[in-house]
Amino acid sequence: MLKANVGQRFDVGAGTKCPLRRLPHRSARIGDTALTLRKLIVGLGLALSVQTLSATAQTPGQPPDTMAARVEACTPCHGNKGEGTTDVYFPRLAGKPAGYLYNQLLSFKNGRRKYPPMNYLLEYLGDQYLQEIADYFAEQRPPLPAPAASEVSAQVMQHGQSLVARGDPARQIPACGSCHGPGLTGMEPGIPGLLGLRPNYISAQLGAWRYGTRTAKAPDCMQQVAARLTEADVTAVAAYLASRPAPINAAPAGKGAYVLPFACGSEPD
Ligand code: HEC
Ligand code: HEC
Repeated sequence: MLKANVGQRFDVGAGTKCPLRRLPHRSARIGDTALTLRKLIVGLGLALSVQTLSATAQTPGQPPDTMAARVEACTPCHGNKGEGTTDVYFPRLAGKPAGYLYNQLLSFKNGRRKYPPMNYLLEYLGDQYLQEIADYFAEQRPPLPAPAASEVSAQVMQHGQSLVARGDPARQIPACGSCHGPGLTGMEPGIPGLLGLRPNYISAQLGAWRYGTRTAKAPDCMQQVAARLTEADVTAVAAYLASRPAPINAAPAGKGAYVLPFACGSEPD
């Protein structure tokens, strides 16, 4: 059913493997983490009721309502400062534009982006609260991880570099760098940098756009970009991006620093 829809919506060409097949580890993990999650959700619920109770005054004996305490439900998967963990599908959050992070939290909350543990966790959190969490992770600056050791051939790496730097005009694929920035560090408010992400995460996200489990506000330009990529393109850009060394300054460029090739609905709601 899902597979048929994918075929209808995005003609990715004969012989293209279903992107769902790339995610066995992720689907298995959802079951494994169900118990931990239930604990986390209960924990977050408790933390929130404590927060509501102590909204104006700090109740004696209660832990302080700091942002670090609020995000305790997030850090087992995303790292203490949002630097990511060893799980290759758990993304880094630190230093991404606050508007982008906020958009993602809203998308998980309203189901535009699907990953059940995050969908459940955010279901009852208010928008103001989500904005504050987004601001918190956007301000963190832990160092970017060392580049991933490459498992692909030099030819595949070269193809990835070419798509990132130049795109493929014949197939109407814009250069990734035209939106993500010449240094791939993104732009405020809604375009994330592409450095410090693992290849598995990148290819899972591009697959998610292709089969519709990740969507953004219209015009969803990544859906249009991802629909034009073949499986081989995805492998190549994921490997190339993950091989990039950390720049001295990984902060996103300021709003309007460069003009996008076509509009994206990346302004926060
Ligand atoms: C069980 C592990 C887990 C927990 C707990 C968790 N996350 Fe996530 N989070 C993930 C995974 C996995 C993804 C990527 C999902 C996907 O494939 O789209 C993600 C994605 C995100 C994203 C989007 C990142 C990006 O670059 O697009 C944000 C923002 C985020 N999480 C914030 C949070 C916050 C805030 C909390 C705590 C309230 C939290 N997460 C708790 C696993 C988790
Ligand atoms: C027209 C502008 C545009 C182009 C071209 C573009 N992107 Fe994006 N990209 C975006 C926007 C906007 C987002 C944030 C979408 C959202 O809010 O969910 C994004 C998000 C992403 C993400 C998610 C990052 C994360 O942390 O989850 C990945 C991965 C990505 N793009 C890869 C690529 C690759 C690879 C290319 C080139 C083949 C590319 N993009 C070309 C605009 C673009």
